[in-house]
Amino acid sequence: MCGIVGFIGNNDSKEILLKGLEKLEYRGYDSAGIAVMNEDGVQVFKEKGRIADLRSIVEEDVLANTGIGHTRWATHGVPSTVNAHPHQSKTSRYTLVHNGVIENYDLLKREYLQDVALESDTDTEIIVQLIDLFAKEGLSTEEAFRKTLGLLKGSYAIALLDEENKETIFVAKNKSPLLVGLGEDFNVVASDAMAMLQVTNQYVELMDKEIVIVQKDQVTIQNMNGETISRDPYTAELDASDIEKGTYPHYMLKEIDEQPLVTRKIIQAYQNDSGKLTIDEEIISAVNESDRIYIVAAGTSYHAGLVGKQFIEKLAKIPVEVHIASEFGYNMPILSEKPLFIFISQSGETADSRAVLVNVTKLGYKTLTVTNVPGSTLSREADYTLLLHAGPEIAVASTKAYTAQLAVLAILAEVAGASKGFKHEFDLVQELGIVANGMEVLCNAKEEFEDIARSFLSTTRNAFFIGRGIDYYVGLEGSLKLKEISYIQAEGFAGGELKHGTIALIENGTPIIALATQESVNLSIRGNVKEVVARGANPCIISMKGLEMDGDTFIIPEVHELLTPLISVIPLQLIAYYAALHRDCDVDKPRNLAKSVTVE
Ligand code: G6P
Repeated sequence: MCGIVGFIGNNDSKEILLKGLEKLEYRGYDSAGIAVMNEDGVQVFKEKGRIADLRSIVEEDVLANTGIGHTRWATHGVPSTVNAHPHQSKTSRYTLVHNGVIENYDLLKREYLQDVALESDTDTEIIVQLIDLFAKEGLSTEEAFRKTLGLLKGSYAIALLDEENKETIFVAKNKSPLLVGLGEDFNVVASDAMAMLQVTNQYVELMDKEIVIVQKDQVTIQNMNGETISRDPYTAELDASDIEKGTYPHYMLKEIDEQPLVTRKIIQAYQNDSGKLTIDEEIISAVNESDRIYIVAAGTSYHAGLVGKQFIEKLAKIPVEVHIASEFGYNMPILSEKPLFIFISQSGETADSRAVLVNVTKLGYKTLTVTNVPGSTLSREADYTLLLHAGPEIAVASTKAYTAQLAVLAILAEVAGASKGFKHEFDLVQELGIVANGMEVLCNAKEEFEDIARSFLSTTRNAFFIGRGIDYYVGLEGSLKLKEISYIQAEGFAGGELKHGTIALIENGTPIIALATQESVNLSIRGNVKEVVARGANPCIISMKGLEMDGDTFIIPEVHELLTPLISVIPLQLIAYYAALHRDCDVDKPRNLAKSVTVE
């Protein structure tokens, strides 16, 4: 979590750093800070709260061509101004920002820093104090930095300023993402290219355990032994407009609306010249040679995995297990003889998933990452990658990445099945086209979803989502969306399981959002709705054309029954969005959350 930026060049750095941090707020937004360096020294501004709060305390008349910045998601110590980065050494010579977790910080504190009264509760502060300590013992900054990094256990992306070396930002990375961006007469540092797209689209990827000396006209990458490494830059394929809200009040609403377009883009991206769906042959062989697929993911991506299992089992006839990443590492099931691991991750950075990837790679198993971010850690470290082509997703609550994950998993299942000669009665390209049209219809029905949110959710304490089969998995995602952004306690249940306990929670007026898009279970889910209505629940039934019944609240357009999750989730996303708005919640940046969770 946390996002870092750095700038060194000829322009005043303040605004560039602040703008960069605004683009990184998805990584954490409980406190923020910048440090700028000029002939007079280093000045630090930090504040609890959002970048807007930080902006209000940055002094306009301080001009500096060099600076670093940080937006925080607290792990060690509460969100506060003292715990906010940058942190400074006792002598004020060194100033540093850090993204990651130093696991042995307590040990290092006891071993080296007993005489230093630390200011903050963070693991980060020990890094800057150690560098200062080693410099005082006679090491150069580079040597002191290298020695300190050698002692750290855990993850870090670091940018360091040295008041006695005003021409340089010292940078290092291990496990946390970090890029160096190149410009004319300036260079930048950022956790994500998005942050510095305002000044450059040329980036150099950094590998774990590398140290970089960033100067305004030179970037030197070194390994831990001090050997210089040369690496070509790449062009970040991002359009600045992709990361702006435009006329939308929130990124989440923009991203919900982008779903038809993204679905069409995915179809195109995975079609060959003759219009046939195609995926790299090596990936299809890895899928088809496996005797069992293990999908590992977190949050919304885990919910996509549950639906993906249905696609793969039905279309490619390979058994699939779906696991929560944070559990898998400690509770590894007995694996089959030839497993394939699929990691689903919008960001490609989720530490829980990465921990599993590292483990199973050590065990020699093949891995595939399905991600929205090319070059992300999970993508680089897996054997194969499939991209979502969803464009940057900035709202913390995932929407378009979820439907993109479903579309890509459906295509993977289809191509793997077809290569084994399995046939079925539908054409996936055509069916996904119908899905995209259906999505459009739903995105144009916003007012109805706003009304539903108002009448069912504006004052409730809790809400339940029920469904059977594939609808159950969509209900889980709908309940996650609602709780993430509206703070209503929401749970998803299998329709038939409700009576085995949860029904005790139903009171007069409790909202029950029921999905009915599957013909084979339509009557049974309706039966479950009757059971809760008999106990006072307020039912909101979302059914599909062809399966509708009197009293249904909303009827979604008809699509192939295997693909219903791609569209039935849209009403749930919009209902959650409007429920959050009605409750005055910060839709794009819900409390306590971050989009890219790089701690385990
Ligand atoms: C965080 C986000 C969720 C997301 C999950 C997995 O918890 O708040 O929205 O679903 O991480 O993220 P990933 O990038 O791996 O899909």
